[in-house]
Amino acid sequence: MRAELFLIPEPVGETRLAGKTVVVIDVLRASTTICQALKSGARAVIPVVGSGEAAEMRSKIGVESTILGGERGGIKIDGFDLGNSPFEYTEDKVNGKTVIFTTSNGTKGYNRAGASKLIITGALVNISAVVQRVAQAEQDLAILCSGQDGDFSIEDTLCGGMLLHKLAAEAKLELELNDAATLALLLYRSNSRALQKTIARGEHGRHLVKLGFEKDVTMAGEIDSLPVLPILKDSRLVLESV
Ligand code: MLT
Repeated sequence: MRAELFLIPEPVGETRLAGKTVVVIDVLRASTTICQALKSGARAVIPVVGSGEAAEMRSKIGVESTILGGERGGIKIDGFDLGNSPFEYTEDKVNGKTVIFTTSNGTKGYNRAGASKLIITGALVNISAVVQRVAQAEQDLAILCSGQDGDFSIEDTLCGGMLLHKLAAEAKLELELNDAATLALLLYRSNSRALQKTIARGEHGRHLVKLGFEKDVTMAGEIDSLPVLPILKDSRLVLESV
């Protein structure tokens, strides 16, 4: 299987992704929060790029059945119901609702994923479910790291590296890697025993701790704590049973 990883959120041509499984990763915190929202019973999470677009979509779908969630600079957007902390997405808030979700980096990845047939939300909290689904799909893989403000982020790269490691070591797949995927794999293998520490020491981890979200950083590093598989269907992230 050819497995490519994209370290930064560069535009990836549709032809490069056609026919591939795409995994969109934003460990801190969009991917983790999407997993939590769906685990808490949200009907769907709709990733959108702008807050205006989110509000428009809400009036189309209906105020009663939707929740507006997201952040800018890590802080809840004015007028939104919820921010981007996974701890806010509890059953009493989101069960049965559609979450319209916009974050600074993580929700943009779904636009970059283009028209790929299988688009999955990847995080450390659901890594084994993602590995299983990618292996089952038996098609080439593209891992899109969301990064931070157009830049590389250590937590997304580590997560991509862990995915590749598990595909090779557990699913026993023979992987033909691009150089960024090799880098991610080496990074993961040299940090596999200190994932949470490495994430907390990263730029985004430190930023979130300063904002008071230390618990979110710890939670995002809890491997397989939310064993769900969000996949994109008709522009909505919904659960596929694992
Ligand atoms: C993002 O999409 O950039 C993140 O999820 C930001 C955050 O941690 O709130």
